Amino acid sequence: QQFILNHLNHHSISDTRQLILPGSTTPATDADSQIAILGALNSLLSREMISYDSHDTLSHILTPEGVQISLLGSHEARVWAALPVKGSGTSITPVELKKIIGDEAAKVGQGRAFKNGWITKDGDGLVRAVPSIQDTTQKELREVDSTGTLSTGEKGLADLRKRKLVVQKKGQWFTVQKGPNFSTSTAKPETDLTVDMLTSGAWKSAHFKKYNFEAEGIYPNGGALHPLLKVREEMRNIFLEMGFAEMPTSSFVESGFWCFDALFVPQQHPAREMQDTFYLSDPVKSLSPPHDYYERVSRVHEHGGYGSVGYRAPWSDAESHKLLLRTHTTASSAHMLYKLAARCRGEVSKDGEEYNASPTSGPIERKEGLEDDGFRPAKLFSIDRVFRNETMDATHLAEFHQVEGVVADRGLTLADLIGFMRVFFRKMGIENLRFKPAYNPYTEPSLEIFAFHPMLNKWVEVGNSGMFRPEMLEPMGFPKDVHVHGWGISLERPTMIRYGINNIRTLVGHKVPIESVEKSPAVRF
Ligand code: PHE
Repeated sequence: QQFILNHLNHHSISDTRQLILPGSTTPATDADSQIAILGALNSLLSREMISYDSHDTLSHILTPEGVQISLLGSHEARVWAALPVKGSGTSITPVELKKIIGDEAAKVGQGRAFKNGWITKDGDGLVRAVPSIQDTTQKELREVDSTGTLSTGEKGLADLRKRKLVVQKKGQWFTVQKGPNFSTSTAKPETDLTVDMLTSGAWKSAHFKKYNFEAEGIYPNGGALHPLLKVREEMRNIFLEMGFAEMPTSSFVESGFWCFDALFVPQQHPAREMQDTFYLSDPVKSLSPPHDYYERVSRVHEHGGYGSVGYRAPWSDAESHKLLLRTHTTASSAHMLYKLAARCRGEVSKDGEEYNASPTSGPIERKEGLEDDGFRPAKLFSIDRVFRNETMDATHLAEFHQVEGVVADRGLTLADLIGFMRVFFRKMGIENLRFKPAYNPYTEPSLEIFAFHPMLNKWVEVGNSGMFRPEMLEPMGFPKDVHVHGWGISLERPTMIRYGINNIRTLVGHKVPIESVEKSPAVRF
């Protein structure tokens, strides 16, 4: 930059190829020098110290084979040079020729030398046919090497290009003029007017950088919602507009009682084993559930009741009091249903006033024939995290979100459950549903829900559901005609399908690309 400014101070620069750069003794005709000059010019241009015009050139450079020929001569010239003069009594056979100048040169060179009339046969051997030759190819290549072109014109160049001895190369050179801010000093212009400059008066002579009103502003870095939160919000709104109330789900830690026993999951069920459930070692034991309810639950497990024979296996207090990370939010549903049944147990008055609940052990006594048995219908949902001791892979993590719901009313049937699912999923943009019989310890019948995914062109499981068993509902205190259906839907699966994500780790965890969260649109199926 300094060199260019100094030069421009005294002379104009009409062709940057004529500059003799510092440290060099010859003009900067080569492409690399011009690239370096361009860098300096652009930097000076941005400060309006100079302006320049660029000119394109097309020059030629030698290929590796071209370089070889410019040094050793063309193949045909080397063939001629290797042969003896005609009539000298000696000759060289093609085999010997190969040994002298190499296979390639001998092969290509002989043909051309014959064509040029430079050599001729003499018996079995070859000899020179003329006393001297002109190696035009070598001469032309040397000219291209030093000037980048041929004085004889394009035809010769085209021929050399065809023989792959030279290739074209684009180049640039420049004419340079002084700009409005021309000076021989490259000191950076000031970008800020400072207090110091004002007090010292330096601002009067300071050189300021111009404002760039074309510059794009800094992109505001606001917060962004994670795709899971967007889909969660959408589902939440659907529940709310269908008249559902949200259940509290803040207790990630539950007891074996609320997570399993209350749901009539047998104490020997495989899901309760260590490989499926994370157990807590500290504290060692949960608080005790309400005494009477606990008694009724343990009795229905061990001995049956409410029309059931039970599991007929010994009840374990220890199993029931184990603390664990909840494996499903149905544990929260159990808490809520137990609360909902408080009126039916006679613990809450019709006006919502709590009675002194001093329940006596034994079956719940309800006055038959009473018009109001205390039951109030309810529609509840929750969306929160659950934990399972899974082998983690592309589609499984040890924690995920469940969309859980229950509907409690008199005389509900399986058709109500199916009807609800159709309405809910239609609101999510999913029209095509299929139901498959399934098994849950706490529901009978149970249904798995499949949705047809048009993009994947296949049926994918989206949820699990069923009618809660009397063995679960009646110990809570619900009248026999109150039926409750419930379901669990994964939040991650529909989110992954919507956002076209096929590895759960790109959605959750430390490998999530932050830009993907910032840029993820609110999409629908
Ligand atoms: N808890 C079940 C699961 O984790 C879902 C479910 C909830 C099924 C309620 C039936 C009733 O898959």
